[in-house]
Amino acid sequence: MLKQVTKKAAGINSRVCAVLGGQWGDEGKGKLADVLAKNYDIVARFNGGNNAGHTVVVNDKKYAFHLLPCGLIYPHTTNILGNGTVIHAPSLFEELEPLTADGLEWEGRLLLSDRAHLLFDMHQAVDGHQEEGRGSKNIGTTKKGIGPAYATKANRNGIRVGMLKHFDVFETQLRELLDYQHHLYGVDVDIEGEVDKYKKYAEILSPWIVDGVHFINQAYDDGKSIIAEGANAVMLDLDYGTYPFVTSSTTSVGGMSTGLGLSPNKIETAVGVIKAYTTRVGWGPFPTELTDDTCGGMVPRDAPGTDIGRHLQTVGAEIGVTTGRKRRCGWLDVPVIQYGHMINSYGSINLTKLDVMDDLDEVKLGVAYKINGQRLLPGQMPSTLEDLYAVEVEYETMPGWKTDISKCRTFEELPSEAQHYVNRIEELVGCPVSFIGVGAGREDMAVAQFV
Ligand code: GDP
Ligand code: IMO
Ligand code: MG
Repeated sequence: MLKQVTKKAAGINSRVCAVLGGQWGDEGKGKLADVLAKNYDIVARFNGGNNAGHTVVVNDKKYAFHLLPCGLIYPHTTNILGNGTVIHAPSLFEELEPLTADGLEWEGRLLLSDRAHLLFDMHQAVDGHQEEGRGSKNIGTTKKGIGPAYATKANRNGIRVGMLKHFDVFETQLRELLDYQHHLYGVDVDIEGEVDKYKKYAEILSPWIVDGVHFINQAYDDGKSIIAEGANAVMLDLDYGTYPFVTSSTTSVGGMSTGLGLSPNKIETAVGVIKAYTTRVGWGPFPTELTDDTCGGMVPRDAPGTDIGRHLQTVGAEIGVTTGRKRRCGWLDVPVIQYGHMINSYGSINLTKLDVMDDLDEVKLGVAYKINGQRLLPGQMPSTLEDLYAVEVEYETMPGWKTDISKCRTFEELPSEAQHYVNRIEELVGCPVSFIGVGAGREDMAVAQFV
């Protein structure tokens, strides 16, 4: 029997709810943010940029968000890119185009924090240049310029969105930044072209720019409800992830405070979005990976090949929304979920894509890590690549359910084997599951009984 979970813990009626990725990204955060947004006033992105790829399916129509919050689909919401994000203006306009074509009215509902940093074409060129320079040790970034943009922010020569309202100074800063990066990395920069482009962008974007920190806190004080839509995920977090195979922002719960200016005590709920198995795009450690030569096109580490990875990849359509790369696939890694729960303190979990496992004869859970025969405690996660690559995973095997679960709308309707799988995850992680994804559509969710 699924543990009972309150609506607040499920993020249904919190004042402030964070939707956080609990693995290596692409867990289905966009879908949950959209589902919850029905009852929320504001949807805010607090980290990352257009390296994210959040897919929402409504009445068979697919929306692909990268930089923009998924809240935009619901006309009653206001959406904001918080100070912790990095904004590539050309991509922002590009992303708005299909929304406009679909008749989605976003004008006046999209705000930009004045403290968010601008990400320029130059940052993308540097990203590509650095990846090339890493040779066989490349990270497999999205090449959207994320790392270089956060680097200029930390180096204090980045340019914030609010500067678009002071174009004379902005122009000088832009020229200096582009010149500096050109000399540092040798990348080509079209300084005059960029200045001209940003002159136009400044005119268009200025009315969208707000004091983001004040805006979000004033909204909170006015009793508005807020979703913080996480991008990327805990194992890609700059501090907690599998460094250096990570992104360059704080993807976990703390990033919500620093990336929006909301005090931690205002965060009422964090919902962990967890795929029922594991995927990863890009390189880096992946202890439960089902390595076979077609899964993500990645070279197997050293494990024997298996075609279950390929099955998950195909049935789960595990192809990156942002890069079009195949995602590497593997069994659910419980130590990763325990670690994420320790850091983010999930009120509940949205277990997604359980339907993708419908056809499997048996399913496995990676329940513990061992290094040199020593079992790690729940919550312990090796910090070095050397230890992560040395991890041996202990598995539990369970019978599959061999049933189409796509029409299930409550936990009780799931076949008993699927219930057992969910219950075992709850037990091992110590956190209730509130939503179970059974398909890509907004409605395709088996919902727990709420108290
Ligand atoms: P995000 O980055 O965390 O928002 O996740 P993505 O959108 O990158 O990847 C999740 C993919 O799975 C998207 O194509 C979703 O439409 C799809 N999806 C989400 N939840 C489910 C589910 O429960 N079942 C199935 N079959 N697909 C899902
Ligand atoms: P969503 O929000 C999956 C991965 C990249 C790469 C590493 C660093 O859709 O879950 P970056 O371009 O950020 O410097 O790349 O992080 N990565 C993601 N993987 N989903 C994402 O976002 C990701 N954002 C970054 O593939 O391995
Ligand atoms: Mg994604």
